[in-house]
Amino acid sequence: MKILAIETSCDDTSAAVVENGTKVLSNVISSQIPIHAKYNGVVPELASRAHIKNVNIVVEEALKQAGITFENFADKIDYISCTYGPGLAGSLLVGVMTAKTLSYIYQKPLIPINHIEGHIFSAAIENKNLKPPFLSVVISGGHTELVIIKDYGKYKFLGGTRDDACGEAFDKAAKILGLSYPGGPIIDKLAKDGNSSAVNFTRPMMKGTWDFSFSGIKTAVLNYSKKVDIKDKKVICDICASFRQAVAETVVTKAIAAAKEFSLSSIALGGGVSCNSLIREMFQKEAKKNKIKVFLASPVFCTDNAAMVAHVAYHKTLKKKFSYPSKNILSIKPSLELENWK
Ligand code: KG4
Ligand code: ZN
Repeated sequence: MKILAIETSCDDTSAAVVENGTKVLSNVISSQIPIHAKYNGVVPELASRAHIKNVNIVVEEALKQAGITFENFADKIDYISCTYGPGLAGSLLVGVMTAKTLSYIYQKPLIPINHIEGHIFSAAIENKNLKPPFLSVVISGGHTELVIIKDYGKYKFLGGTRDDACGEAFDKAAKILGLSYPGGPIIDKLAKDGNSSAVNFTRPMMKGTWDFSFSGIKTAVLNYSKKVDIKDKKVICDICASFRQAVAETVVTKAIAAAKEFSLSSIALGGGVSCNSLIREMFQKEAKKNKIKVFLASPVFCTDNAAMVAHVAYHKTLKKKFSYPSKNILSIKPSLELENWK
């Protein structure tokens, strides 16, 4: 069964064709980083305009790479899927309208997907051994979430961020340090040449709750940066290494504690920050110590992509969770929360 999925929730325009949930025939991503970098963050109106410009090209390329054309589409594609929330309203609209249009034209059922569910299961695309129950750690530019995954469509939310999302903290810290956008990958790179004990940023463990709070570390970076010369490469690298260490220790410690508390023997990471080299390394080390399996996705499936949307869509088809074109009343839900559908 082949699914064409479209993802446009933020600043990446992506389309993928995935067979039976895990065979990725194509996963095309058009990044808008050059458009937003000069503003140090995503500008919603520019994002939606860029999606409009890109979406047809990206869909056509995803089909082409999968050996599909608009002529043989109806024979080759079984379902159409798209992210309908959470995300930027204008951005979501482009993907949802494109998916709805294709659904009407080719008379294919449509499967709406929650973006967070995509990140939750992204590690399952390449790891057939990742099966519920497991603890999901979603760390991205918009989310920081610990969720118990009982099954596809059956979730228990444990905690989220009370202020900045994990990736947002990386991006804001980078901005303070005069680094470009998105800051996460740059901080990760510079941290490799720095001393992680140079600055003692506090670890916001938030005892007694599974929630996170990253705005304090970000403010600590701001205050520290005013006292030192941030033009000095060594100073910058030391701040990046110390900041990355503090965030990584916080996320890994809380996630391992949650897995132990709820007797979960597997943890899966998702979201752009799960590309972070220290977070990946620390998770593997700490999980091994605690006899917990860790599932990591390849970087291309960590950040926003349509293959993860197609993966969840496949599992929705198994539970008959889709709508026929004639009954299609799908609209965007920018503030969509994680919902149970099983
Ligand atoms: O999942 P994603 O592509 O988009 C959202 O759904 O938000 O995540 C983007 C976020 C950005 O904040 C970016 O700085 C962060 O992921 N990121 C990283 C790394 N690579 C991407 N953060 C830390 N280290 C990285 N290597
Ligand atoms: Zn995302």
